[in-house]
Amino acid sequence: MIRLAVLVSGRGSNLEAILKAVAAGRVAAQPVLVMSDNPQAPALQIARDHRVPALGVSPRALGGREAFFRLVEDTLVDARVDLIALAGFMRLLPSRLVDRFRWRILNVHPSLLPAFPGLDAPRQALEYGVRVTGCTVHFVDEGVDTGPIVLQAAVPVLADDTPETLATRIRREEHRIYPEAIRLLAEGRLVVDGRRVRIV
Ligand code: GRF
Repeated sequence: MIRLAVLVSGRGSNLEAILKAVAAGRVAAQPVLVMSDNPQAPALQIARDHRVPALGVSPRALGGREAFFRLVEDTLVDARVDLIALAGFMRLLPSRLVDRFRWRILNVHPSLLPAFPGLDAPRQALEYGVRVTGCTVHFVDEGVDTGPIVLQAAVPVLADDTPETLATRIRREEHRIYPEAIRLLAEGRLVVDGRRVRIV
């Protein structure tokens, strides 16, 4: 069974969806570690509620970004992690970590990439005036939200949407497609072929 780590910074609703899918036997992965750059992240409590080892460390307390990511990398390697899922993790990974875990890092983003990468994607979508947005699970490469796309789901934009109502409906779809993407990867069914991901 693949060994799964989840990196989080905040609420942890995607983490919870993933852990529930694992507990229900829908995803053949063993969650071995949850790590956060924010020791106060509610996501850490969700991990502990599911009996998953959880570690929150502030980069500032460690002396900066470099030391933080050295700790992250060492901890992931020590835990013999096969797959890293970023779930609301608000930092760009160092290229060294991306390279070490090439095509073994997934992220979820609240837009239909390549539209609206970066922060505040639901607000960007509203301000642009699109009728349809959604979410994307993709492999992580060195860019910001640029890696090969695994799954996407569309979400209509409603006339009275605010960034918050839109983000809430998008999150519901994230909670469906993120565990599904992890399931496919855990079953060895994702093949990265240039920019395209084939599901075999
Ligand atoms: C999600 O909207 C995800 O797309 C983005 O950050 C948010 C995380 O939410 N990357 P949560 O912490 O999983 O509730």
